[in-house]
Amino acid sequence: MAAPRFHELEISAVRNETPDAVAITFAIPEERRDAFAFLPGQYLTLRADIGGEDMRRSYSICSPLSETDRRTVGVKHIENGRFSGFAQTLKAGDRIQVMPPQGRFTVEVSGDDHNYLLLAAGSGITPCLSIAKSVLAGEPNSSVTLLYANRNSSSVMFLDDLNDLKDRYTTRFTLLHVMDEEVQDVEIMNGRLDAAKLETLASHGLIDPARADAIYICGPEPMIRSASTAMAAMGVNEDRIKFELFTPAPGSAPAPAPKPKAANGIGPNGPGASVDIILDGARRTIEVDAATDTVLSAAMKAGMDLPFSCAGGMCCTCRCKIVEGTATMDENFSLEPWEIEAGFTLSCQARPDTDRLVLDFDAQ
Ligand code: FES
Repeated sequence: MAAPRFHELEISAVRNETPDAVAITFAIPEERRDAFAFLPGQYLTLRADIGGEDMRRSYSICSPLSETDRRTVGVKHIENGRFSGFAQTLKAGDRIQVMPPQGRFTVEVSGDDHNYLLLAAGSGITPCLSIAKSVLAGEPNSSVTLLYANRNSSSVMFLDDLNDLKDRYTTRFTLLHVMDEEVQDVEIMNGRLDAAKLETLASHGLIDPARADAIYICGPEPMIRSASTAMAAMGVNEDRIKFELFTPAPGSAPAPAPKPKAANGIGPNGPGASVDIILDGARRTIEVDAATDTVLSAAMKAGMDLPFSCAGGMCCTCRCKIVEGTATMDENFSLEPWEIEAGFTLSCQARPDTDRLVLDFDAQ
């Protein structure tokens, strides 16, 4: 299967969600429906030239499965975030490069009965909204509890959508807001969403992780760590937990930190590794200095257009398979143990260990 590629899509609507967040809807023409088929919880990678720089960012889809002709993403402006700032200026009729849906923070809507617990913080609501809408519509006897953490009520994204779900699925959808900068009537719902809060909510019967078939956690890293700790303390098997890390992305172009000269001589004073890159059936060889570059950053310097999005080891867009040689990743927040075992790596994090490396981006 070919590596993912960008398609130009037209924006059909932009809606202000909060003072610093917008929902951007892309029209999906008939001929792109297959390419943009998705599972609830997946994201789109957007690409734009901003100030002469090729930038890309991933944003989760908040649409339900039933919306076949459009995909909506939520974009919250991050302080000094160039792409998220640019996104706030987009309007209906604009056209932008969009990569087809990706990501593993997904649910398969089966029609069976399930009990879902969704834990979201800030813009982490976007994939959870897609999951909630899709399973409530597609699984008539499933129930969803959504615990949504924000600073205050003005920072709650998709409030109208959430209230609609509450009205439509009165007995199957439970929405709980936790806020740390605004006092709510129910004392227990005030404060940060951390391990102590989750344990307190569970002890009061407001959430029931032990009964959940699947738990989805989406937010910044500290929240995910806290929530995972709390779930483990409550005896929840990690097989039932999925998480998606929502962290401000690093710079658009991969900027790997310099590393000490590799012990095997591959480094600034030694020869760079010879790296063959197989992409869309074509093979090209580049040189990669493991001391200063990852495979992705070296490929970009060489003018190659490899698939990537976060450049931070989180999204998996840059996944490829090592078919010869070895490489070490700086970070890995997305590959599963079985994938590493099978030889997959993240090109945005991979530095060659051997003087010859062959990477296949077409391998599944
Ligand atoms: S580009 Fe996101 S993990 Fe490499």
